[in-house]
Amino acid sequence: MTETGKAHAKINLSLDIVSKRDDGYHNLKSVMQTVNLFDEIMLECVPGEGVCVDAGRPYLPSDQRNIAAKAALAFFDHTGIKGYYSHIKIKKNIPVCAGLGGGSADGACVLRLLDKMFKTEFGYKTLETIGISIGSDVPFNIEGGTKLVEGRGERLTALPPVPFCYIVICKPSFSCSTPELFGRIKCEKIHARPDTDGLVKALYDNNLGGVARRMYNVFEDALPRGRQDISDIKNALLDNNAQGAVMTGSGPSVFGLFENKEDASNAYKQLKENYSECFLTETINNQV
Ligand code: C5P
Repeated sequence: MTETGKAHAKINLSLDIVSKRDDGYHNLKSVMQTVNLFDEIMLECVPGEGVCVDAGRPYLPSDQRNIAAKAALAFFDHTGIKGYYSHIKIKKNIPVCAGLGGGSADGACVLRLLDKMFKTEFGYKTLETIGISIGSDVPFNIEGGTKLVEGRGERLTALPPVPFCYIVICKPSFSCSTPELFGRIKCEKIHARPDTDGLVKALYDNNLGGVARRMYNVFEDALPRGRQDISDIKNALLDNNAQGAVMTGSGPSVFGLFENKEDASNAYKQLKENYSECFLTETINNQV
């Protein structure tokens, strides 16, 4: 049995860390948005047992350390379905360790594909519950779209879609460790936070400028390195008339929102001269 699907990247229009939890994780408050940049997944299940992932990159694990493999194992564990070996082939287009949720999107896609293949008809809620057991960004990526994400990542509230816009994403070459960045955050010492409620209101008002003006990510202030790259990319985006520009997730990718395709294209071309991992894309309203 074979199924194929797309695993779309996400951006964080805002990202706030509200409090540290007793389980070591943090409570978040973030507005996430799915974008039209995706990995392509081919899932084959044959009689046998186990799972293997081929993501076409030597540094990406092929075993249970890969979130796509974890997703398959969690699905079979949850359903009690036995006797299948899963082969997951991933064509990676989303940059890795970039703050774009590529691994989580792959995991969420595997859950959707297995649900379809085995006709379990779980619906989003159950898939999200399985998803949180494999990663904090997985529940959002089950359905995608525009959502307020709270708790560890499992509390999802659907929001009106962000007004259609072009998005330029640029990943600097350094990388950030997500646990290290969380470790550097002291919630009581965060001095600037996003106006998430204002951003949500701007979404209800269909006001792209209002959304863009309120974009903010508390991780930017906790970066141990790379701040010059982040501000250089932001400046290039804003100089080309981006409505706003901010780092996504735990970084280091930075994105800008554009009303006008020509401005977005100019920003993309300018950044591409210095950064190899640049993308010109747009918002989309769900994962599939
Ligand atoms: O859930 P996930 O495996 O994606 O989380 C990776 C790491 O990020 C966790 O080990 C934890 O250090 C941190 N994290 C957190 N609070 C969250 C999400 C992630 O502290 N809500």
